[in-house]
Amino acid sequence: MVITVRSLGLSGITGYEVRAECFLSGGLPSFDVVGLPDAAVREARERVRAAVKNCGARFPVSRITVNLAPAGEKKAGTIYDLPIFVGLLAAAGDLPAPPPDAAFLGELSLTGALRGIQGVLPMARAARAAGIRQLFLPLENAPEATLAGEGITVYGVADVSALAAHLRGQAPLTPAPQWRPEEEGEPLPDLRDVMGQENVKRALEIAAAGGHNLLMVGSPGSGKSMLARRLPSILPPLTWEESLETSSIWSVAGLTDPRRPLLPRRPFRGPHHTASAAALTGGGAALRPGEMSLAHNGVLFLDELPEFRRDALEALRQPLEEGSVTVARAGGTLHLPARFQLVCAMNPCRCGWRGHPTRRCTCSDREVEKYVQKISGPLLDRMDLVVQVPSVEYEAMRRRTPGEDSATVARRVASARAIQARRFGSAQGCNAHMSPGEVGRFCPLNQGGEALMKSAFTRMGLSARSHDRILRVARTIADLEGEEDISPAHLAEAIQYHSGTLTAPGSR
Ligand SMILES: Nc1ncnc2c1ncn2[C@@H]1O[C@H](COP(=O)(O)OP(=O)(O)O)[C@@H](O)[C@H]1O
Ligand SMILES: [Mg+2]
Ligand SMILES: [Zn+2]
Repeated sequence: MVITVRSLGLSGITGYEVRAECFLSGGLPSFDVVGLPDAAVREARERVRAAVKNCGARFPVSRITVNLAPAGEKKAGTIYDLPIFVGLLAAAGDLPAPPPDAAFLGELSLTGALRGIQGVLPMARAARAAGIRQLFLPLENAPEATLAGEGITVYGVADVSALAAHLRGQAPLTPAPQWRPEEEGEPLPDLRDVMGQENVKRALEIAAAGGHNLLMVGSPGSGKSMLARRLPSILPPLTWEESLETSSIWSVAGLTDPRRPLLPRRPFRGPHHTASAAALTGGGAALRPGEMSLAHNGVLFLDELPEFRRDALEALRQPLEEGSVTVARAGGTLHLPARFQLVCAMNPCRCGWRGHPTRRCTCSDREVEKYVQKISGPLLDRMDLVVQVPSVEYEAMRRRTPGEDSATVARRVASARAIQARRFGSAQGCNAHMSPGEVGRFCPLNQGGEALMKSAFTRMGLSARSHDRILRVARTIADLEGEEDISPAHLAEAIQYHSGTLTAPGSR
């Protein structure tokens, strides 16, 4: 007879239902797994065989066929060990058939203990959507699975003997308690530590308030990296849905801490400038999300921007426009979410000292131009805010008293975000993602604003793209002040951050 055991699989970061159909028949003893299994799934046979013996059951002497359906989807990894084990023993009559609303997931060790797996959160959410009401998986993964929500009972299983005792009604397992995030993690680096640099802090606040991309330009030691690392401390908290999304990506990447399966805050990813395009994009046979997806709903920080490889910078373009990355796979392409805020830092020139008050820059104008050009094509156009970070002299720094702390700035950011949430009718909406139509609707200029924009256009040679970019930033500046209308002063500040300032003649 055929025993069907429900389980789950992953396509990218989306879970779907898989059924393991186990069939025993006469003939020469054999054990086959069909339905596009990869090598790891085929090896399930050896682990299941050992686990059956080690839990005191008899391995059926039959012709065993396991079909993983839907057969068209490629099955990867070790998570089908458990459903195959259950199906095999049920087909042999050693276990009762599993309840029809139950699903099983998990890797077996040779002794029959269950090992933790990756990608539990999206699979548990898919289980709930598929009407599965009981989920059996490795003990370690139980807290994460409870995040799927109400209506699904999660059983963390230590080993196959415990599961067998439960299914036979001998020793019921205790359902896993709903996991809840603890209050606060360790404190983040605070803006209070940064002396002076009011201009840059202002740009950081605007970037946080509207979700805008930011480029900081300054000499070595001016504090660019220090400032960038303080952005997370002023960003609004993740919504529950955003947190589940990003945590799902981290789970598939195997970065989730099983004891803290939900990301408490927006991610901040700072890949090194030697990172390859593939490391940013993700991919591979066992799909691994790249840095752009790991930064989903958070910050991607590229320090020393011009040092990145050209193809890596190119790979950023499409995700910056679309909020998702396209990964080529054997069976076609796959889209992974990658809506991140891009923050970059760079020196003003190759030697680093252009515009420094005491050090001398040794670059020619031509060299400076070439240096900036390296990023101009693909990226400069996508920078909403470009800000110069001046070198603070030691004495000046000592004299300065600490500025505002991050909590104070975060409150202003939060109220600007609340205005945006009302504007776009969604907690996730922010000015940086306004479509051209929305820019037209939400960013009208008065007469003074029109005149200012017109003169900036001719003076700086702006493109239509930069026109909208400036308006989005101006909208955020007005929102920070709680103003309905964009005033010429808001607009003037937004123009001052435009990327044209980096390449304009006479810039520092
Ligand atoms: N404005 C500042 N206030 C306090 N410390 C600063 C400031 N600017 C720089 N520093 C100090 O200098 C160090 C180097 O700054 P860093 O952020 O690495 O500079 P950059 O990335 O621009 O080269 C920081 O770790 C910090 O200790
Ligand atoms: Mg640095
Ligand atoms: Zn130089």
